[in-house]
Amino acid sequence: MAEIGKDIQKAQEILNKGGLIGMPTETVYGLAGNALNAEAVAAIFSTKNRPSFDPLIMHTYSLEQVARYVSNIPEKAKILAERLWPGPLTLLLEKKSIIPDLVTSGLNTVAVRIPGKKITLELLKELDFPLVAPSANPFGYVSPTTAQHVNDQLGEKIEYILDGGSCEIGIESTIIGFEDGSPVIHRMGGISKEKIESLVGKVALKPHSSSNPKAPGMLKNHYSPGKPIILGDLQQLKKEIGETDRLGAIAFKEAIKGIAEEKQMILAPSGELSEAAQNLFAALRSLDNKEIDIIIAELVPDHGLGRAINDRLKRAAAK
Ligand code: TXA
Ligand code: MG
Repeated sequence: MAEIGKDIQKAQEILNKGGLIGMPTETVYGLAGNALNAEAVAAIFSTKNRPSFDPLIMHTYSLEQVARYVSNIPEKAKILAERLWPGPLTLLLEKKSIIPDLVTSGLNTVAVRIPGKKITLELLKELDFPLVAPSANPFGYVSPTTAQHVNDQLGEKIEYILDGGSCEIGIESTIIGFEDGSPVIHRMGGISKEKIESLVGKVALKPHSSSNPKAPGMLKNHYSPGKPIILGDLQQLKKEIGETDRLGAIAFKEAIKGIAEEKQMILAPSGELSEAAQNLFAALRSLDNKEIDIIIAELVPDHGLGRAINDRLKRAAAK
């Protein structure tokens, strides 16, 4: 198992040698390595079993640092960066050649963000290079929102996990690219479409596709726990499936009758979508580890963060 701790210097030593660490962010934990070191980047892909056509996000601590690695920052990207970083926002910007092609899977844009965890920003400031970090889960599985989640799945493969506590946002960053300067959402995430539109006006939504590896990471059956998930009305689904104690449920804010309490995950007793986002991945993991065969889940209200939550639920349920 990896060591879990708050030792920035230790994390720095490992990264300087080309090694990988578990790294906290406000969205999910990442598996981080030196973005400018092609061997470290290759190790990230192999540690996660990630296909090489799925590019990585580069993490930095300042807009000045970003400017060193990209050749152009569109006006609307600047506005979003200034208003929302550090935060759960990733921008796709034209890359400079210093960034290894492996990072971007050969694309001419690089995904960048400034994450919002204090300990990680301190680490990034100490380093002479930015970090690339995909979510720290085996490819296709649910993203980790605690250091322990990272240890459970990748603990045999890495030495150290920097502990930043649990993730305040709980789902991955919103990814925005630019077409002729106009913003396009590539992945819904921790910042809502409404929030983005309030800053830069109308944004388009790029439809995902599982058949187009150039719209990567958007594979339909991402975020899958090991068990089948069925989406719908919980009472109705329970009726259809019938009497069984092998059933687990994910509910938005209220428990349903007839399923044991420990087999039900209530995402947001408060009814707040931000609370549901925080709890979603831990809920999927927890049900995955229980004695059940099937998970039923209901969608949440489809606005604000709810859109990103429903996106993850639908992909977790896709075969
Ligand atoms: O919140 C997050 O974004 C977390 C934390 C660790 O920062 N990271 C994360 O990374 O979710 P990952 O690798 O699990 O997802 C990155 C997504 C992938 O779907 C990838 O295809 C997309 O970003 N991506 C990266 N570079 C891209 C590019 N140049 N064009 C289009 N999509 C890109
Ligand atoms: Mg991921």
